[in-house]
Amino acid sequence: TGVLVAMPEEGRALVDAMRLEDRLEHGRREFLFGDLWGERTAVVIARCGKVAAATTATELIVRFGVETIICTGVAGGVGEGVAIGDVVVADELVQHDLDPRPLWPRHIVPLLETGSFPVDAPLSDRIAAAASDHADAGAGGRVHRGLIVSGDQFIHGPAMARAIREALPTTLAVEMEGAAVAQVCYEYGVRCAVFRTISDRADEDAAADFTGSLGAFAASHTLGILSGVLGSGGA
Ligand code: ADE
Repeated sequence: TGVLVAMPEEGRALVDAMRLEDRLEHGRREFLFGDLWGERTAVVIARCGKVAAATTATELIVRFGVETIICTGVAGGVGEGVAIGDVVVADELVQHDLDPRPLWPRHIVPLLETGSFPVDAPLSDRIAAAASDHADAGAGGRVHRGLIVSGDQFIHGPAMARAIREALPTTLAVEMEGAAVAQVCYEYGVRCAVFRTISDRADEDAAADFTGSLGAFAASHTLGILSGVLGSGGA
């Protein structure tokens, strides 16, 4: 299993929990290999954005042979009732900033004929169950399932958030990597799941909330949830 996060703060707790066997600096990013709760795992800090995420996912698959990629970290809450501290588990992912009109419809990846990338349902079910357990065990927050959208933009104001909601009304959360990872996994036939802790509401307070959440609870949410997923059979 490969666990892909964008930022060091999102991955540090995982790396600390890992029995580290090997580390490799490659392509200006660090891959850490080892054992997490009995499961052979590669944790990688991809850096932010779709290009970095797609490149990293491709490396995990082609060079390191992972069969599953879990993309995690934080996201901005866009859907109604999606609050800071909640967890969103993706059912599908779309690149909100992909627009090849008038040649193809909005959000469609040209020549791939789709713009909505699936996740592995059984793995996502297990992540959602682990997230509920983690919330009940004291972390708090609610667990949502649905559409996560990705783009190369930090969404930080009502107009930006409204534009996403208007174009993709079922959006629960926005981030900068998940749909790119899901597209690569789709193309290579690799199992994929994406879950995110909500760090901000993609509003005018987003930058400050993002920084605060990263320092406060984002890493511990990721760690608590993954501990209920990895090593428990087949991830
Ligand atoms: N990741 C966390 N919060 C985000 C936001 N508001 N926009 C884009 N990516 C994010």
